[in-house]
Parts: sequence; structure tokens; C-alpha cells
Amino acid sequence: MAADFLNIMPFTLLFLLLNMRFSSGLLGFGDTYKRQLSMELNPGLNSSIPPGVNLLHIRSLGNDDTLHFLLCNLGSPTLLLVHTNSTSSSIQVDWPEFLAGNTSGSLRVVPENAVLHSNALVLVRLWEYDDLNDTADPQEVPVSSFLPPYQLESFQWEPLNNSTLDPQAHTVRLCGGDGSPAFSNGSFCLQLSAFGSGGREAGWPGLLHNANSSQVRVWLQGVRPRAAHSRFLLELHALGQPYGLARVEVLQSIDDEYTPSIFTVSQWLATPSNVSSPVLGFVEWKPVAYRRPDPIFTDATPCHHSSPVAVGGALSSGLALAFYGAGAPATGLNISYGLAGEPFYNTTNYLSWSMLAGIGDPPVDSFSPLVLAIMAVGLGTPLLLLLLGGVFVCVRRRSLAEGQAYSPIN
Ligand SMILES: *[C@@H]1O[C@H](CO)[C@@H](O)[C@H](O)[C@H]1NC(C)=O
Ligand SMILES: *[C@@H]1O[C@H](CO)[C@@H](O)[C@H](O)[C@H]1NC(C)=O
Ligand SMILES: *[C@@H]1O[C@H](CO)[C@@H](O)[C@H](O)[C@H]1NC(C)=O
Ligand SMILES: *[C@@H]1O[C@H](CO)[C@@H](O)[C@H](O)[C@H]1NC(C)=O
Ligand SMILES: *[C@@H]1O[C@H](CO)[C@@H](O)[C@H](O)[C@H]1NC(C)=O
Ligand SMILES: *[C@@H]1O[C@H](CO)[C@@H](O)[C@H](O)[C@H]1NC(C)=O
Ligand SMILES: *[C@@H]1O[C@H](CO)[C@@H](O)[C@H](O)[C@H]1NC(C)=O
Ligand SMILES: *[C@@H]1O[C@H](CO)[C@@H](O)[C@H](O)[C@H]1NC(C)=O
Ligand SMILES: *[C@@H]1O[C@H](CO)[C@@H](O)[C@H](O)[C@H]1NC(C)=O
Ligand SMILES: *[C@@H]1O[C@H](CO)[C@@H](O)[C@H](O)[C@H]1NC(C)=O
Ligand SMILES: *[C@@H]1O[C@H](CO)[C@@H](O)[C@H](O)[C@H]1NC(C)=O
Repeated sequence: MAADFLNIMPFTLLFLLLNMRFSSGLLGFGDTYKRQLSMELNPGLNSSIPPGVNLLHIRSLGNDDTLHFLLCNLGSPTLLLVHTNSTSSSIQVDWPEFLAGNTSGSLRVVPENAVLHSNALVLVRLWEYDDLNDTADPQEVPVSSFLPPYQLESFQWEPLNNSTLDPQAHTVRLCGGDGSPAFSNGSFCLQLSAFGSGGREAGWPGLLHNANSSQVRVWLQGVRPRAAHSRFLLELHALGQPYGLARVEVLQSIDDEYTPSIFTVSQWLATPSNVSSPVLGFVEWKPVAYRRPDPIFTDATPCHHSSPVAVGGALSSGLALAFYGAGAPATGLNISYGLAGEPFYNTTNYLSWSMLAGIGDPPVDSFSPLVLAIMAVGLGTPLLLLLLGGVFVCVRRRSLAEGQAYSPIN
């Protein structure tokens, strides 16, 4: 009997374990938290002032809180995310000062004591280097191989208007260029998508999102490379109150169903630096970019991030300056695209990369039902066989023993 029990034990344990994974998987799908989204352009702008600058505000209303997403085409493209504990907080802009471009404190979220947390993500520079030795490692490349970076601050950005805004899908597109010959037939673009509920975008990298996050996709299209072996880096800066984005954590996964061949996810987290306390805000991405708008497997190219460092100097973002004021501390990192031996940018003249920005814990993929089914069959079958084998041996032993009991002793 004891042997039988021992035989059943591992199977039961595995069953329980799988069940647990299943229910957490189901919980992932059953992420039912919803928010109501609304978009407005240039909140509070007196129509007698010609804008020239566009500020998009997406209000994401929860049960007892509000998320404000702001995107502006003033200076470096910036996503500002403000979390309040009120359902009636609003944006207050001192437009004449805001339009002047260098005035701190001209954009506020009121009431100010309702603000729990804020983060700004600034796209600062696009670096290009000539990867002559094909290392795809910016650390290995001599400084002389770097071309003058594109300062996104001084790009001419298209207006945010009805043709770039989709109030139903809650997306907005912002494209620009620096007017140089390289950009004569190309542009640097980003698309912001806000989400009212959990889900996953259909195309790769298929990042999982929840109602507390938004997605930013950036892409470089048709821009002429300035070197024979051009590869690119994107420099990102981040600010935050009370905590900025500090450390980057890389999580492993065994499931690449939604992002083929990618088994990690990187999270740039806003937490009090030295305590394992709750995450207030995050930027999350999978280390992969794509060389075509409709990629197939071979169009994927890995990307790497540098360690976040404190960055000083003047803020290149009008929006961040308006909200945080001058002198606010910022951290920065570079995302570099490509892998040694892989095609250079010139093969497609296209590069696309996506990230998620939000509050609270970043959404993390749990095992998908398909993978769970495979695991259950793969692990369950041998165990079942073992179990049956054990039972068989037991039964046989017992009947043998019983047989022996009745056999005459010499
Ligand atoms: C716009 O500003 C002008 C001058 O400051 C003021 O007279 C006018 O009432 C304002 N219009 C609106 C709609 O606020
Ligand atoms: C920036 O601020 C300074 C000092 O307040 C002012 O002299 C300058 O004209 C401003 N620049 C712009 C572009 O508004
Ligand atoms: C919101 O937060 C502020 C400060 O953190 C606090 O004073 C206020 O009572 C909070 N309001 C609610 C409704 O929780
Ligand atoms: C290429 O590699 C050689 C040898 O490692 C090195 O001396 C040289 O500086 C590298 N050149 C470039 C442009 O990376
Ligand atoms: C809207 O923006 C697009 C590009 O962003 C531009 O081509 C178009 O002229 C703009 N329309 C108006 C009415 O400003
Ligand atoms: C956008 O379109 C809506 C109606 O579809 C209109 O009310 C609004 O004024 C337009 N906004 C701009 C900036 O053109
Ligand atoms: C711009 O792109 C189009 C289509 O991609 C191409 O037909 C055209 O020749 C390009 N023009 C220049 C100046 O590169
Ligand atoms: C989103 O934020 C709200 C309010 O902070 C929280 O109650 C909810 O659990 C969060 N949802 C997810 C999926 O993290
Ligand atoms: C890209 O550049 C490399 C190195 O200069 C060259 O060998 C290759 O032919 C170029 N590819 C295209 C499609 O222009
Ligand atoms: C965290 O850092 C602060 C100052 O940076 C220090 O005073 C505090 O003791 C640290 N806490 C822990 C748990 O290390
Ligand atoms: C990004 O890379 C460039 C070129 O190597 C470097 O000059 C810059 O300091 C880097 N920025 C950050 C934030 O690491």
C-alpha cells in the first residue's frame, strides 16, 4: 500500500503544479480591469492662439484613479504618464508659457496632491555608426565610426491632427525628419497606443498589455544610411516623481509563442532604489526589432540595452521641462539594434521596435494554453506510464508473494 501511495505522489504533485500554472494562466487572460479612454488635443487652448505645437492628452479613467498620457511634438518626442488617485484630475496648461518652449512648470496636473506618481520617457537621439568590422557592438566601435547623431529635439514633427489621430483605436502617429538629404525620402515615426483593457497586439513582438499601460512603437523608414555598414542606436532618457526609471531587469521565459525565438523580456523599473518595494512605473520591451513592416522570421534582429546612467544637461523635451522643471534628474540608456554577421540597415532601409510604458507591475506572459497542453502531455504521459508500471510491478510482486506463501516448502 505504501508503495502504491509513493507511486501516486509525484503524479498528484505534478497535477497540482500544472493546475496552478493553468489557473494563473487563466488569470492572465481574465485580467478584467478596464479603463475608460478619451482623447483631447491641446487641452484648454484658447482657439485665438495658433498652436504650431500639438499636445495630445489621453485620459484613462479607472474605478478610483486616473492615468494621464501626454504626447507632444515640442522638442524631443516625449510620453508623459501621470497617475492620480482621483477620478476628476485634469491637465492645466499655461499655453503662452508652454508654447515659448523653455518654461518650467507651465503644465500641471491638478489637484496636485492627487498625483501619486509620474514618469516621462524622452526619445533623445538616434545614433548611427559605421560597423566596419561587423561587431554590432557600439562598445567595440571606435568613436570615429560614429556619425553625428540625429538630435530628435530639432526635428520637424508633423502636426498631431485628425489625420494622425484615431479616437476609436486610441492611437496617434507622430512622424518627423531633420530636412537633411538622408531624410528626403524617409522619416522617423512613433505610434502611441493606449489601452482600456488587457490584450495583445496581433503583430510581432506581440507584447502583452493591460489597462494600466500604453505601447510606443518607433520605426525608421526610408532614411538613407550615411555609411556603408550603418547600424543604429536609440538613446532614451527617463524622468520620474517620486522615482525615476532606474534599474533594468531581464526576465527569462521558456515560451516564445508570441515572439518567435525571443526568450527574455527587459523591464526598466521605477522603484525606490534599494528596497524590494512595489513597482510604480515601468518601460518594458522584448529585445527584438524588425527589418520589415510585415516581418517574417528572418526579418527579426536582436537588440541590446546599455546600463542606465544618470544623464545631466538641459532637458531636450519641452513637455518634460514644462512638467518637471529644469534640473530634474534623469537617467538614460541606449538601445542598439543588430547582431554581428546580420544584414546592415541598408538591406531594407527599415527598422521597427516596440515598448510598453505603464504603471504598477509590468504585465508578464504566463504559459499559454498551448504550451501547457504540450507540457501536460509531454510530462504526464511518461509519469502515467511510470505509475502504471509501478502498479503492475506491485500487483505482480504481491501475487508472486501470495503464490510463494502457498507453495510447499521442501
Ligand atoms: C481667448 O483669449 C482672449 C484674450 O486673452 C479672450 O478675450 C477670449 O475670451 C479667450 N477666448 C476663450 C474662448 O477663452
Ligand atoms: C527661454 O527663456 C529665456 C529666459 O527666460 C528667454 O530669454 C528666451 O527668449 C526663451 N526662449 C524661448 C525660445 O522662448
Ligand atoms: C490622494 O493622495 C493624496 C496624497 O498622496 C492624499 O492627500 C489624498 O487624501 C488622496 N486622496 C484619496 C481620495 O485617496
Ligand atoms: C577593426 O578591428 C581592428 C582589429 O581588431 C581594429 O584595430 C580596428 O580599429 C577596427 N576598426 C573599426 C572601424 O572598428
Ligand atoms: C494633419 O497632419 C498631416 C500629417 O501629420 C498633414 O499632412 C496634414 O496637412 C494635417 N492636416 C491639417 C488640417 O493640419
Ligand atoms: C477633428 O474632427 C472632429 C470631428 O470628427 C472635429 O470636431 C474636430 O474639430 C477636428 N479637430 C481638428 C484638430 O481638426
Ligand atoms: C523615394 O521612395 C520611393 C518609393 O519608396 C522611390 O520610388 C523613389 O525613387 C525614392 N526617391 C528618392 C529620391 O530616393
Ligand atoms: C491597474 O491599476 C489599478 C489601479 O491601480 C489596479 O487596481 C489594477 O489591479 C491594475 N491592473 C493590472 C492588470 O495590473
Ligand atoms: C549594403 O551595404 C553593404 C556594405 O557596403 C553592401 O555590400 C551591400 O550590397 C549593401 N546592400 C544593399 C541592398 O544596398
Ligand atoms: C536605502 O538608501 C537610503 C539612502 O540612499 C539609506 O538611508 C537606507 O538605509 C537604505 N536602505 C536600505 C534597506 O539599504
Ligand atoms: C549612447 O551611446 C552614445 C554613443 O556611444 C554615447 O555617446 C552616449 O553617452 C550613450 N548614452 C547613454 C545614455 O548611455
